[in-house]
Amino acid sequence: MALIDRHAILERSPTLLLVFSLLVVTIGGIVEIAPLFWLENTIEKVSGVRPYSPLELKGRNIYIREGCYTCHSQMIRPMRDEVERYGHYSLAAESMYDHPFQWGSKRTGPDLARVGGRYSDEWQLDHLIDPQSVVPESIMPKYGFLLNAALDTSDIAAEMRTHRFVGVPYTDEQIAAAYADLTAQADPDADWEETLERYPGAAIGNFDGQDQLTEMDALIAYLQVLGTMVDFSTFTPDASR
Ligand code: HEC
Repeated sequence: MALIDRHAILERSPTLLLVFSLLVVTIGGIVEIAPLFWLENTIEKVSGVRPYSPLELKGRNIYIREGCYTCHSQMIRPMRDEVERYGHYSLAAESMYDHPFQWGSKRTGPDLARVGGRYSDEWQLDHLIDPQSVVPESIMPKYGFLLNAALDTSDIAAEMRTHRFVGVPYTDEQIAAAYADLTAQADPDADWEETLERYPGAAIGNFDGQDQLTEMDALIAYLQVLGTMVDFSTFTPDASR
């Protein structure tokens, strides 16, 4: 009997077909899922990626609270038009400390995965206060009210401990220095050398130009770090995986 005829037996019996289909799906499933239990980590380690500084973390909360993600994605796909417009495609490692991630699926505005350092702090400030003053055709809402909202810093250590609980490797030293780092990053006159040692590449500055520490400071500090942690002039993807 030819193989194709034997297959006809299967096709004529719904029960047999069901049993064999289940068998095939089970084998396929095991082959796909089982290796994940032996891999330590499915995210390739990339040097430069670090947890957010306390001020950046606060800014990220405001980004989420204000729903910036409803108009902005943070994931550059590896397609030519995207890479030419936004820069190197996003790596999984770049959002490994994002809880929750901000990849997004809707782009009313541009992708922000590499907006850090693209504009000055002043530009970001002007743009957030009144987007149309710098981009006349913009439909982005105004966020000037963040200038009048004092930043709530009381829970920063607890927040970092929570992030540590879900896998972000904050050290005890970083948590102990949370408040000091948070204020130092927004004050160019402070002693921020140690802050920079703990969070290399963090932008230091009085982001909103006011004495008071506001939600605007935190948001701009966050925007300025996006996509800047990995040095793509030296990065080479690990081809062995
Ligand atoms: C209603 C949709 C919408 C929302 C909500 C929104 N934006 Fe935008 N955003 C836009 C659009 C459209 C642009 C492009 C025009 C412009 O630059 O203003 C833009 C541009 C930007 C840019 C400049 C990006 C670049 O590469 O030029 C930044 C930075 C930005 N938005 C940050 C934010 C932040 C932070 C929030 C939340 C506080 C936010 N946006 C909320 C629509 C939005």
